[in-house]
Amino acid sequence: MALLEGKVAVITGAGGALGRAYSLLLASEGASIVVNDYSMEAAQKTVDEILGAGGKAVAVACDVGGVEGGDKILKAALDAYGAVHILVNNAGMLRDKAFHNMDESVWDAVLQVHLKGAYAVTKPIFSWMRANKQGGVIVNTTSTAALFGNFGQANYGAAKGGIWTFTKSLAVEGAKSGIRLWSIAPAAVSGLTGVVGMDEQTQADLKPEYVAPALLYMVSSLSGDKTGKCLFVGGQKIMELKLEAGEGIRGVGVSAQQIAENEARIFRDAPELTFADLS
Ligand SMILES: NC(=O)c1ccc[n+]([C@@H]2O[C@H](COP(=O)([O-])OP(=O)(O)OC[C@H]3O[C@@H](n4cnc5c(N)ncnc54)[C@H](O)[C@@H]3O)[C@@H](O)[C@H]2O)c1
Repeated sequence: MALLEGKVAVITGAGGALGRAYSLLLASEGASIVVNDYSMEAAQKTVDEILGAGGKAVAVACDVGGVEGGDKILKAALDAYGAVHILVNNAGMLRDKAFHNMDESVWDAVLQVHLKGAYAVTKPIFSWMRANKQGGVIVNTTSTAALFGNFGQANYGAAKGGIWTFTKSLAVEGAKSGIRLWSIAPAAVSGLTGVVGMDEQTQADLKPEYVAPALLYMVSSLSGDKTGKCLFVGGQKIMELKLEAGEGIRGVGVSAQQIAENEARIFRDAPELTFADLS
């Protein structure tokens, strides 16, 4: 039997590279897909592909960066299929600028789509899942650029880092209602990344289709009761990303000098993850 028979999945930004790949794979596993994107044209294109392959899908065009958008998406799902079992918060864009040149509008635009967007779409759907006592799975999209930091991406890093901890918090709140949470840090050739500086082999290794199976794992019974976790998923590597701590020292009223003297125990010696570890 297909892994997602009878399930309804909402996928935001699903006219783009990763969202389209997620939509096609989840539909091929029996899910009915609510395809969101900013424009109807982009959303409908993915819907047409799903329908052409014999799947089920409807399009809903809106900006995820406002609560009206989230409400519209839930309504479209309920009108078409009467339920939502899976939400993938995937919509996104970049406005890179060195921080000293990053004015408020550039900061706000990125926070609006990614972080406010995660709130605006998750709030009505999480609440619906909770009220309907049927559980669910929500996947939020973070980024290694956020978790490591990257030049010109203070806005994107803040938004994606916020999404990482948003996911952790919601995993705690969702546990009682059987709502599982994941975050995904993908790597794929897309409209967002472009292909500048990538050789042909790298482009071939970073197809969005190579990320989609990990998304399917997350939202299906294959991942059991796992929740609150983050996976990096690129063309050549899949690995969990998680916080690590130094050994630490104990004591009440530890002085600044004592901290300096115990640096070897306080700071973790292992090298931090870098972009080089991703390939
Ligand atoms: N491609 C990568 O390597 C990579 C790496 C890290 C994180 N991500 C994240 O993955 C997600 C998908 O990106 P992608 O790489 O497929 O890029 P993409 O540009 O191909 O797709 C993003 C889609 O989101 C849509 N979108 C943007 N703003 C929107 C809004 N306000 N409301 C509704 N839809 C909106 C766009 O129209 C587009 O179709 C993004 O959240 C991105 O930050 C991608």
